Amino acid sequence: MAIVLRDARKERGGLIRSLFARKPIAELLAEGENPQGLRRALGAGDLIMLAIGAVIGAGIFGSIGSAAAGQVDAAGNVIRVGAGPALVVSFVLLGAACALAGLCYAELASMIPQAGSAYAYSYATLGELVAWIIGWDLILEYAVGNVAVAISWGDYFKSLVGDWISIPVWLTTGYRTALLSSNPDVHGLLQNAPQIGGIPILINVPAFAIVAFITWLLLLGVRESARANNIMVAVKLLVLALFIIMGTQHINTANYHPFAPNGFKGIHQGAAIVFFAYIGFDAISTAAEETKNPQRNLPIGILGGLAICTVIYVIIGVVLTGMVPSKNLGTAADPLAYALNATGMTNIAKIVALGAVFSMAAVLLVFQYGQPRIFFAMARDGLLPHWASKVHGRYRTPYITTILTGIFVALWSLIGDAGETYDLTNIGTLFAFALVCIGVMVLRHTDPERPRPFRVPVVYFVAPVGAALCVFVMRGLPHLAWVRFGWWLAFGLLLYALYGYWHSTLRRRTGPVPIEPPPPISA
Ligand code: ALA
Repeated sequence: MAIVLRDARKERGGLIRSLFARKPIAELLAEGENPQGLRRALGAGDLIMLAIGAVIGAGIFGSIGSAAAGQVDAAGNVIRVGAGPALVVSFVLLGAACALAGLCYAELASMIPQAGSAYAYSYATLGELVAWIIGWDLILEYAVGNVAVAISWGDYFKSLVGDWISIPVWLTTGYRTALLSSNPDVHGLLQNAPQIGGIPILINVPAFAIVAFITWLLLLGVRESARANNIMVAVKLLVLALFIIMGTQHINTANYHPFAPNGFKGIHQGAAIVFFAYIGFDAISTAAEETKNPQRNLPIGILGGLAICTVIYVIIGVVLTGMVPSKNLGTAADPLAYALNATGMTNIAKIVALGAVFSMAAVLLVFQYGQPRIFFAMARDGLLPHWASKVHGRYRTPYITTILTGIFVALWSLIGDAGETYDLTNIGTLFAFALVCIGVMVLRHTDPERPRPFRVPVVYFVAPVGAALCVFVMRGLPHLAWVRFGWWLAFGLLLYALYGYWHSTLRRRTGPVPIEPPPPISA
């Protein structure tokens, strides 16, 4: 009996050791140098443009409304309370959390310049199981986040061309949007749309089409995509500058009272949704294998992009909540255009709507770029099927994962709801940020000698406070987001148990941690 127990313990120890097997950093670096791999074409300027391209989008153009005003569901239940003009405090809080996490990303990204981002870093620091969880979790940030952005893009596109082209509403509204909307006109589509076999046909064709277009652009290769991104970023910065200049002239200081109508709870819950506006600066680390001199350029790209966006958000928050009463912002799908219309600047509102269309296309580009590279890294490690890591012979892009990501996001956008996906994206991303902060500290212990081209200053303050702030912001999200997140992780673990665990190249190479066969039980 004692022998059986000892063997069981030994086996358990072997299993745990293999679940937490860490990928050697030297190997990660060698993968990044693979001449048959991805092409190094990006400089620091391209990265900052990619960061701004990823960050300024649906969060500031769309989710800022619910963050300021709060949100109720179709049945009138309060989902979150709003921050009011104190939204500015939410932005500062998020800027601090993201800066700390950004520093940690920068250390890991410059030390391990590899395509998998937080997935690759955690493989080297926290072991395979955590790496899998992060890789799976990042689908929420990249692919599910892009569903929300694509749907918002469709909404702005619709309002932009609505005066000239009449598209039937059932071709521009996803089924879930109609189902969840508290607006009777939209909810009524469930009865009024054409039906097949009793099922209403409610599809968002513009959202589907933009995802298809961006996927095609990415298949052509990173250089061409980066150029397109640069143009889109320039347009979005001009449009936001226009909003700030024109909006400043219509500020009514009475709108700043009360400053925080729901106290700190409103600031906290507002921050938890408008965090969506910050997601993306970390996506730059997925470009590590395609960056020239990544040790220098990655930290500049991540932190530079984040700093620029934080300043812009704070200014927009001040101007927007000064233009109209914050409580009016919740019902508008396009809060910036709404504020301009409400103050009589209808032509400027159209220009801003046009800018929103460009901005969100830029966001889609960066996220559709990042997701395939994470799948690519996971497939190269054997955690996903090997065919997913193929690089296109001519364009040198991970074309299979690019196409699969495009199909996944486009189909979900066709029937999905933007609001539903904000919270899910935020919780997944904050979780990944927190683990990256922890990973930096682990690596300082386990591999202190490895050169760090960028070192987090006062790491034992920055990393734990960064992780704690991320968890704090997560706690401002609704209960349903936590439940869905739990299910998502559970499903991911099941997939790992069924596939990744058995096909991991790291485990197959080093072999399972040896377990001696049990001696025959003779007594
Ligand atoms: N930060 C990105 C956006 O706001 C995801 O669209």
